[in-house]
Amino acid sequence: MDTAKVEEVVGDFVALRRRGVNMIGLCPFHNEKTPSFTVSPSKNLWKCFGCGKGGKPVHFIMEHEQLSYPDALRWLAKKYHIEIKEREMTDEEKREESIRESLFVINQYALQHFIDTLHESEEGQAIGLNYFRHRGLRDETIKKFCLGYSFERRDSFAKKAVAAGYNPELIAKTGVCYSTDDGRLQDRFWGRVIFPVHTISGKIVAFGGRILQNNAKAAKYVNSPESEIYHKSDHLYGLYFSKQAIMQKDRCILVEGYLDVISMHQSGIQNVVASSGTSLTTGQIKLIHRFTDNVTLLYDGDKAGIKASIRGIDMLLEEGMNINVVLLPDGEDPDSYAQSHSTEEFEQYIERNKVDFIRFKTNLLLDEVGEDPIRRAGLIGDVVKSIAVVPNEILRSEYIKKCSEMLNIGEQLLVKEVAKIRRQKAEETYKKQISEKNTPAEDTNTPDEAPAMDEFQQSIISNYNNPLHHKEKAIIQFLMKNGGKMLQVPENKATETPAFLETVNSHLHYSFGDDGIELSHPLYKRIFAEAGEYANDVEFDPEKHFMAHPDAEISSLTAELCSEQHILGKEAAEQINDERNEQAVMFEQTTRLAIAYKLSIVDEMLKDTMNRLKDPGVLSNAAALQEAMEDFKYLKETQGALNDVLKGYGFGNVALNS
Ligand code: CTP
Ligand code: MN
Repeated sequence: MDTAKVEEVVGDFVALRRRGVNMIGLCPFHNEKTPSFTVSPSKNLWKCFGCGKGGKPVHFIMEHEQLSYPDALRWLAKKYHIEIKEREMTDEEKREESIRESLFVINQYALQHFIDTLHESEEGQAIGLNYFRHRGLRDETIKKFCLGYSFERRDSFAKKAVAAGYNPELIAKTGVCYSTDDGRLQDRFWGRVIFPVHTISGKIVAFGGRILQNNAKAAKYVNSPESEIYHKSDHLYGLYFSKQAIMQKDRCILVEGYLDVISMHQSGIQNVVASSGTSLTTGQIKLIHRFTDNVTLLYDGDKAGIKASIRGIDMLLEEGMNINVVLLPDGEDPDSYAQSHSTEEFEQYIERNKVDFIRFKTNLLLDEVGEDPIRRAGLIGDVVKSIAVVPNEILRSEYIKKCSEMLNIGEQLLVKEVAKIRRQKAEETYKKQISEKNTPAEDTNTPDEAPAMDEFQQSIISNYNNPLHHKEKAIIQFLMKNGGKMLQVPENKATETPAFLETVNSHLHYSFGDDGIELSHPLYKRIFAEAGEYANDVEFDPEKHFMAHPDAEISSLTAELCSEQHILGKEAAEQINDERNEQAVMFEQTTRLAIAYKLSIVDEMLKDTMNRLKDPGVLSNAAALQEAMEDFKYLKETQGALNDVLKGYGFGNVALNS
């Protein structure tokens, strides 16, 4: 963390110019023409004021190279020649790891063989290279996508690889070859042109082989089977070549085939990936989602193309993606369209013909059902089902509005339908979770966790807590920045406690613990609780600790909170100019923050009690009314007492709604 200098790490990818104490450049994570990407060498932080991303050097690498936290650390360690001592793997793990590595090595060897065959052998040039050129691919494109050719002879790669010393069993495991019943090793892709499939970081996991003459007897494509390194559902063809463009355009275009991706790249549209002819999987969608929220489905205008686009829609919606659909003119696919139009024409076509999914689905189904009322009802149900899976509430209500206009149905009716479907789904999940929970627990000492809440309960609670979340964020931010500093608790004459020093972290921990307060926001709660474990450790540096946290959610929140403070805020420096010493200032700030938070909890509880006092059910029940009135009185007293604490220290009241 200390060795990796932000200007060096970022500087490998972004051209930086000095501006004052900071450096600026064009943000690699969104499209911009004037630089809002700022690097602060003194704080060792980066922050883009355009898209809001920011953090330590490691977070830059995570974001830019799309690596996990541990992999980003390994990346930095390599750059700075720092040796990482990792946990010893078990023998079993070592064996599996070495098999996986061998499979990648063999795939790489096979790739080189197919490329060489295409470019250097007579057969490869005459058949393979000619085929690609006929399909309109330029040589630089063929090279870029590492396209290849596999000889007609059925064992030419098998023989070569075995002769080169590769283990036949492992060769078969990659799927490049397979064993015949009588034990001979044969090439899977013989006589086909080869499309290698790259992982997101550029390793070869699989191949697709296309037959040269369309032939009813043989499959048009033969693909690598699933293997220890290849799980079809976790890969998207072309992503390795497209990820940068997808990030920059903040949009991913989804097509069906290898050649669609390649031709579009060649014509200058590079944010394209292919699902390779099968339905999208959740894993693939998550992969896209690492780079963008926005997907354009680009399919042929024929029946099959339309069907294919419909299939993916609900899954994309469920993952929170925004979807456009573009259908090409009948008889065209992205490949043919890219071959016969310029980049601008293609981009314009997409721009003019894209429709959002509601319009797409509705129009399509309207065409099919006509005016038949029963089928119309079925259609409405179908569209409503799609809307119901959208996780974002605002988007859902926009879609409902649009759907109501298009189908000429009352909005309220649709709202009700959507809510019904969501409730049913939430109930199903709830029941499922409960039945999973009911399997006997092994450790009887751990207290039962609260039963999982359904989505509706959760949303009610999180809305209820929203005013608190804001304050909790401030507490966490303060804790990260100042948690390790000392504060001085003044003498308390009433309890005869003399003045003493403790860390801000410790003070917050005990101040909340004494009142039985836990933060309500799950992530903040975890962070606060984890810091509490170090309450008695004066060496504990929360910023450092949480910035390097293995949980990416925590480390990136830390980066966000700390960079906001460091690059934006100068208040810390100003406050120290105060007459009093820093420890007294820390005490005041910590106390104000804690009491403001406690006051807002009381505030929420008061609101709740007021509602009870207005509830006819409570008003007509003497005992319930009595209880509510007592609660009210108690809460009012608590409010006063909290303000008295502040007065006692001479700090003055905390404005209630601050
Ligand atoms: N596909 C496959 N196996 C098949 C047919 C298709 O795996 N037998 C996959 C391939 O990934 C292919 C994609 O589905 O790229 C789309 O199929 P299709 O449109 O038929 O092929 P294209 O890639 O368009 O190939 P071409 O233009 O050469 O016909
Ligand atoms: Mn095609």
